[in-house]
Amino acid sequence: MSPKRRPSSHPLRGHHTRLVGLFQDLMAEAKKDDRSKLRPMWATFETALLAHINAEETELLPLYRQAHPEEAAGVAKDHDYFRKTLSEFGVDVDLHLMRVDVVEEFIRRLRDHAISEDGGLYAWAAQKVPKDVQERFRKVAEGITLPPAKRALEALEIGLP
Ligand SMILES: [Fe+2]
Ligand SMILES: [Fe+2]
Repeated sequence: MSPKRRPSSHPLRGHHTRLVGLFQDLMAEAKKDDRSKLRPMWATFETALLAHINAEETELLPLYRQAHPEEAAGVAKDHDYFRKTLSEFGVDVDLHLMRVDVVEEFIRRLRDHAISEDGGLYAWAAQKVPKDVQERFRKVAEGITLPPAKRALEALEIGLP
């Protein structure tokens, strides 16, 4: 079992490990005869990943884009892939209907993305993003706070020239 809501001492830590853990739990569940938990587990994973990338885009990326525009564009491109692939998975509903190569590509990219962000976006954010924004990121990423559309727009405007 992966940790579901293990509190971290640092607002930027533990998010990627949790997401990859949720996906691994899903894959293990998909191999069982009784897959009755698969659908709610899928919903949990999908909700968590979407909340995570939304939180990165509203709370961290606008500032990161100012300092590292190419890296920020790479992060956003990966997020587009995750959103698109999640919506395609959603149509198949049951994981046993998914193509193995597509699922393997998804988890490979999720891992690569997490490693890249850990060494890039998160290392930078730990130094440059104010603590209150880091805490807000954690709350939005963990689904404790939903980002109001107004605040998201304001955050995006930070990145404008
Ligand atoms: Fe990301
Ligand atoms: Fe991330």
